[in-house]
Amino acid sequence: MAFLYQRLGSKVWPPRDTQPDLTGRTLLITGTNSGIGYESVIKFVPASAKRIIIGVRSVEKGEEAKRAILAQAPQSNVTIDVYHLNMLGYNAIEAFASRVNQEVERLDYVVLDAGINPHACKKSTYGFESGIQVNLLSTMLLALLLLPKLLASKTDIFNPVLELVGSGTHQRIPQLLPDTDHPDRDILEVYNSEASFKTFGWIQRYLLTKLFLMYVQWHLVKVVDDKVSGSPRVYVIVVGPGPTQSGLRRDFQQQSSLGVRVAVSTMNFMPKTAEQGARTYISDLMLGE
Ligand SMILES: NC(=O)c1ccc[n+]([C@@H]2O[C@H](COP(=O)([O-])OP(=O)(O)OC[C@H]3O[C@@H](n4cnc5c(N)ncnc54)[C@H](OP(=O)(O)O)[C@@H]3O)[C@@H](O)[C@H]2O)c1
Repeated sequence: MAFLYQRLGSKVWPPRDTQPDLTGRTLLITGTNSGIGYESVIKFVPASAKRIIIGVRSVEKGEEAKRAILAQAPQSNVTIDVYHLNMLGYNAIEAFASRVNQEVERLDYVVLDAGINPHACKKSTYGFESGIQVNLLSTMLLALLLLPKLLASKTDIFNPVLELVGSGTHQRIPQLLPDTDHPDRDILEVYNSEASFKTFGWIQRYLLTKLFLMYVQWHLVKVVDDKVSGSPRVYVIVVGPGPTQSGLRRDFQQQSSLGVRVAVSTMNFMPKTAEQGARTYISDLMLGE
């Protein structure tokens, strides 16, 4: 019942559509060829952003998305740069970050939106379950590689913001595996094991990646604190967009039984739209203003 209430409630009472002023600001956002990321870029443009870097795995689709977004705002002076980024490859992530560090003068806001909710338990080339790889490890690597540019962009009156995309549903993980309590066990190894895949089904495996993303935030917050004053030099935040219509469960449409496909399509129809989901990204970037 609470599940239904949460999904339908988000449609009936969507987040407020704030109108931020991004004049002169440079933003970087990943995963913008669809879903909440795409809708966020649409919102950045009329907010007078100066430059938007979008990190996408298909540059062709990214250029298409850019054309469609700019067509909606013909008066805008914004520059949108489409950069290649594949969150399944460390070389691609490093190449993306190094291009940003070389070609982008400053970074005011970064949104690491790219994420997946895989149905089957597939491994990345590095041996990690693909959700752990994309949502957690690759996201953390990219965050660390972009931090120097964010830190260098701080001014006396402005702190850059690094926004990670989590999910409030991480709170539904009932308990962690007992092995986690052993100080000599590698937590990643425990959760990337066959035993863990058996214990946690596809829903909980996704939620685990978002739970561990909270630990990443906890670590990054300490890294960016000014060691003398203790104040943050960059705000590292996690946004939970809540249930939102998007392509997140596309994997299920391709592989699952008819029953699962119908259930997933129904679940995807119930909550708020991706445009309404993008409102949470914007208001969190403005720290709730
Ligand atoms: N929708 C929800 O209910 C919900 C709730 C809580 C949190 N979230 C989170 O919100 C974020 C956005 O998801 P969404 O709902 O908007 O789903 P979506 O429509 O599937 O968007 C996800 C984006 O991530 C990109 N992506 C996936 N794997 C990638 C990779 N290996 N390299 C580069 N980009 C990759 C996708 O690119 P392609 O277009 O190339 O596939 C897509 O643009 C995710 O982090 C998700 O976990 C969503």
